[in-house]
Amino acid sequence: MKVFLCINDCSSEQLGELLAESKELKNLYKSGGRDLCLSGKTLAMLFEKPSLRTRISFQVAMTDLGGSAIYVKPEDIGGVGKREPIKDMARVLSRYVDGIMARTFEHGTVTELAAFATVPVINALTDFSHPCQAMADVLTIAEHCGQLESVKIAFIGDGNNVARSLAFACAKLGMKMVIAAPAGYELDAESIRKANQISEVRSQKTEDRKEADTIVQTNDAAKAVVDARFIYTDTWVSMGQEDEKQKRRADFEGFQVNAELLKSAPADVKIMHCLPAHRGYEITDEVVESANSIMFDQAENRLHFQRALLKKLMG
Ligand code: CP
Ligand code: NVA
Repeated sequence: MKVFLCINDCSSEQLGELLAESKELKNLYKSGGRDLCLSGKTLAMLFEKPSLRTRISFQVAMTDLGGSAIYVKPEDIGGVGKREPIKDMARVLSRYVDGIMARTFEHGTVTELAAFATVPVINALTDFSHPCQAMADVLTIAEHCGQLESVKIAFIGDGNNVARSLAFACAKLGMKMVIAAPAGYELDAESIRKANQISEVRSQKTEDRKEADTIVQTNDAAKAVVDARFIYTDTWVSMGQEDEKQKRRADFEGFQVNAELLKSAPADVKIMHCLPAHRGYEITDEVVESANSIMFDQAENRLHFQRALLKKLMG
């Protein structure tokens, strides 16, 4: 593996190996052990958008593995692609550091960095996808129910970057996912088609025994959560969409994860959120703070997955 830009860059086997390595390193570090596989190595972390979890977990993961990280804001370097072309940034950074991680608005920025860098490049969230989050999420699901195969997750809200990466991860790992979004905010049809194609190849379905699609969409949130083991939500207003805030908040009415919605779900359903949560919008404070919530396990697992990813790419 040379890059981690999209879940689809990896085979199901590679994703399984990353999950196994995450668990191994989690156990090692929880028991006081250390793996200094990145001793003397440096990661450049470029952020066009704010971050708490991603920034800190990558920085801690680099320190844990014996390396170091440099945080770069666009204003420090005169803007991404402004003071100099992205392809030049990629080639210059490759002469100094052993890996580049980037959170950008346009997905094309990380793909261009990867095309010209000679060191590994990691997508730390773009408007298109958030693969590191999806991997921490499936790690969390596996911990909570002991398996991934056939586990059903209901994603309530915006068919956004987080939903897309989760759909691809579910398809690659044999899970089922239903996305409930208001009309006009569904995940794009091409991503749904691709996810179902991946899942079909994985389960080696034939035309004769064609099963129902494993990644589906609906506009009915209550219907989506029936028999779901996990309910997932994310902000209605992603970074970069602030101008649409009022309209989005009105359009997503009825898609809040709240006590009323949970009446349609199994009593022991687990609630997930990539965070930050906007209480009173996509989720209520009551649900965030409930015993069913596993969102802080997800946040912790960002660190455990990041260690495994960095070891795999830069070790
Ligand atoms: N979930 C997530 O990526 O959080 P940050 O934006 O704080 O990194
Ligand atoms: N969909 C959100 C995720 C934040 C972690 C965004 O892109 O802002």
